[in-house]
Amino acid sequence: MNGPDGGHGIDNLKAHALSDFVYNAWYVACLSRDLSRELKAMTFLAQPVVLYRDGQGLPVALEDACPHRKLPLSMGRLKGDHVECGYHGLTFDRRGLCVDAPTQGRIPAFACVKSYPVAEKWGLIWIWMGPEHLAREDEIPQIEHFDDPAWHITAGDSFMCQCHYLWLVDNLLDPSHVAWVHPSSFAGAGTGDTALKIDSDEHSVVCSRWIENQAPPPFYAALVKFSGHADRLQHYEVRYPSWAINKTVFTPAGLGGEGFNPQDAQTYIMVSHHFLTPVDADHTLYFWLQHRNTDPHNQDITARNAEGAKKAFLEDKNVLEAVHRGMKKNTGRVATMGLDAAAIRFRQGLQKIIEMES
Ligand code: FES
Ligand SMILES: [Fe+2]
Repeated sequence: MNGPDGGHGIDNLKAHALSDFVYNAWYVACLSRDLSRELKAMTFLAQPVVLYRDGQGLPVALEDACPHRKLPLSMGRLKGDHVECGYHGLTFDRRGLCVDAPTQGRIPAFACVKSYPVAEKWGLIWIWMGPEHLAREDEIPQIEHFDDPAWHITAGDSFMCQCHYLWLVDNLLDPSHVAWVHPSSFAGAGTGDTALKIDSDEHSVVCSRWIENQAPPPFYAALVKFSGHADRLQHYEVRYPSWAINKTVFTPAGLGGEGFNPQDAQTYIMVSHHFLTPVDADHTLYFWLQHRNTDPHNQDITARNAEGAKKAFLEDKNVLEAVHRGMKKNTGRVATMGLDAAAIRFRQGLQKIIEMES
């Protein structure tokens, strides 16, 4: 049976091994507020990493395995800007070079660990897991309007999902699911059946649609600045490898559609940025922050938005962790539907990137 892109559904869904990751990308390692002078043990792309801040507050990321007996360095301690192994005291600087070997007359030649490029931006700590010489900080995702005083941005939040990151990518390219997964918040008339449009290039896939002349659903009804029916844009975009931009627009009915004016005073815009960091083939760190073009100083709205978004994302997490378990059982054929078209196109693009890296 052919899928929506003309291929066989299950073959497209499994176009590459789920253990393959894109290395040449900036991933979010943690929220800025969660990194301190404590050693923090983490895993990214199936590699153990220890994170901490040095004495100046700058983030540091090192391979979390001492070169002597592979004890995680995160079980040792910080000594100034350096990490001391908790077994025999080998000590490493931020470049991963051994600077002290207390039991030895001189520093052994093997004694170094890998260091990873890290940076802090948008209230997030970013890490580059690919070759160090390819890391360019100006390629960290740009968040439009971040410093615009007319917009408000939430502080961001995160949780761990026990699923592969591509099940989350599927979800974030799929506007249809809101009708069933988020019935008390994002769902609304037309979310189950309005036709979807897909655009793609070498950077991203976008799945979108305008739903015309409907009442705003519960989550948004209290936020839009006009009464009556609205035209609603659902813009679901994922940029390779795992930065999802979910844009929602409500304009008074009749003002939406292609060529709508985002500057119209009554237009409500909410942008959610989702950053998915693969931990391994069975776990993903999910970070998000939200951005709206109204009420920049209204803390009640900010709190309600943050709470509503987290509740909805937990609904996704519940479904996607069960999808991951179900797909791993591999109990037989997997059906493909038209709504999978954007996800399949994304995987095809991702496959090309992974092949180019290898
Ligand atoms: S295991 Fe780290 S110094 Fe021996
Ligand atoms: Fe969702």
